[in-house]
Amino acid sequence: MPELKIKTFPDTILRKKPAKAGKVTEADRSMLSDMAKTMYLSQGVGLAATQVGVDKQFAVIDIGEGLIKMINPVIVKRAGFESQEEGCLSCPGSSVKVRRAKRVVVRFLDENGDIMELKAEGLLARAIQHELDHLSGKLIIDYMNPIKRLFTKKRPRRT
Ligand code: NI
Repeated sequence: MPELKIKTFPDTILRKKPAKAGKVTEADRSMLSDMAKTMYLSQGVGLAATQVGVDKQFAVIDIGEGLIKMINPVIVKRAGFESQEEGCLSCPGSSVKVRRAKRVVVRFLDENGDIMELKAEGLLARAIQHELDHLSGKLIIDYMNPIKRLFTKKRPRRT
């Protein structure tokens, strides 16, 4: 189970909107396991496929309450609002206050291809929305005010 390399801004794969996955295969399950391993080794609470250069609607999340593997996740209900600082493994050094729904219901396929529905609030709801942003090509820096964003873009790329 290899650790995957995490792509960082401004890598163009981070702006991709992957197509929906079809039938769940053994290769998909293996990719989800590799993503989970990579998330744990990087001490993240979530990771989306595009962050490891994979053009698929996959995400893994663990806020310390157990691992969730999601295929084709879609938010079907949102309620309330809450603003909190967020970081991202693909935007090292950036911390951005993001306004998100306080509670969500997310629908997805699990790794066996079964349809699951999960009700979440607080940090879990936030992590789900953050990962779903990744799967539509959106990053936390897109929530920054324009002056701060300009500064971030001009910062030299670290290698
Ligand atoms: Ni992120």
